[in-house]
Amino acid sequence: MENKQSSGTLFERSLKVAPGGVHSPVRAFKSVGGTPIFFARSEGAYLESVEGTRYIDFCQSFGPMILGHRDPDVKAAVADMLDTAWSMGACEPYSLELAEYLTSRVPFLEAVRFVSSGTEAVMSALRVARGATGRTKILKFDGCYHGHVDSMLVKAGSGLAGAVASDSAGVSDAQETLVAPLNDLAAMEKIFAERGKEIAAVILEPLPANFGLLVQTPEFIRALVEGARRHGILVIFDEVISGFRVHPQGMAGKLGIEPDLVTYGKVVGGGFPLGAFGGRKKYMDLVAPSGPVYQAGTLSANPISTRAGLATLRKAEKLGVIEILEKRTAKFAADLSARFAKAGADWTVSHMGSIFWIHPKVSAPIRSTRDFPANLRGDFPKFFHAAVKEGVYLAPSAFEVGFVSWAHSEEILAKALDALERAADVLKG
Ligand SMILES: Cc1ncc(COP(=O)(O)O)c(C=O)c1O
Repeated sequence: MENKQSSGTLFERSLKVAPGGVHSPVRAFKSVGGTPIFFARSEGAYLESVEGTRYIDFCQSFGPMILGHRDPDVKAAVADMLDTAWSMGACEPYSLELAEYLTSRVPFLEAVRFVSSGTEAVMSALRVARGATGRTKILKFDGCYHGHVDSMLVKAGSGLAGAVASDSAGVSDAQETLVAPLNDLAAMEKIFAERGKEIAAVILEPLPANFGLLVQTPEFIRALVEGARRHGILVIFDEVISGFRVHPQGMAGKLGIEPDLVTYGKVVGGGFPLGAFGGRKKYMDLVAPSGPVYQAGTLSANPISTRAGLATLRKAEKLGVIEILEKRTAKFAADLSARFAKAGADWTVSHMGSIFWIHPKVSAPIRSTRDFPANLRGDFPKFFHAAVKEGVYLAPSAFEVGFVSWAHSEEILAKALDALERAADVLKG
């Protein structure tokens, strides 16, 4: 496709035909200001704008691209599938292979159902939990985002970060949602004691990564799971971001804690639309057509997506990508923190696996939205635009995390450090 118009012109055109000019809110640059960059191409660690400028990309499509953009092995699998079948709406061996791969790698994943997005995966997992328990309430955590499922649009993060209470108009069933603060065992125990019998499931991102990176203590998650089990409440880990990224078995594997149900998205589809929910067979057997919990989808388990996902996961496993990226990211985060200090900026970098979050320095780890410093958003918009000028594209919000991919070689990361150090000039105290 020929694209000779500038980002500004394309955005003007887009504003006329799409709400806010975008198809997902964070893309609109609302929280950093300015006009969104229109990108024409992606390759490895880079995005190229319609104007022909190349940027080192740490947004990585908000997480799916663990191998980087257009990885050649994933591309080969997709090209082969394009010549074989696109969507057949019938049984096929391609999703079977991915399902067998996933269930052979994740011990508590005894059965899995593929859908087309993380949101769908969450929506379906919640329905299974309600079907399994006959209860209606769902407990979620302040600062965890679970997609745009109606009942989950309370105290969420991502594009909604910063809003209070029920975050969306047009939502009628959020009254079934209870919200607890992260990292607060007493508050959680109180909710369990008072409402435990009504709660079908507790859902959480075991690595909350949509409202900054709010790394939880293993003790908190373990106590939460034990408390839920005492009250007959199902535990759903939402691993749409952390799954197959922070550990081959997701955050569950990293923590050595098994949920009853799990949701996946992003990495599992290798950059194509795919989500999954799964868990213990006794719960998954409730899903139609085995059981009474209805769930279906025209494009579910799309072969292009499942082939891309499997090619991604196999390559990552073969090369030890997850483990190598964890080390690379830890070094990058430490180096970037040091560069901030060198530039006279009182900012730092939190990280876990290949995920990092840039934020103002605080004296203790930020584990819940209550720990946010007053100046959290602070100068991020200025820094974002300074980074863009220096050739680095971060996700356009102070609350979004960054992703290091296999394509971010040490040389590219070194270049990014130099660029971000220069950008940090705008953060000088
Ligand atoms: C933890 C988590 N759950 C669910 C979702 C929703 O996934 P999707 O955007 O594919 O619908 C996201 C998306 O960012 C997510 O991070």
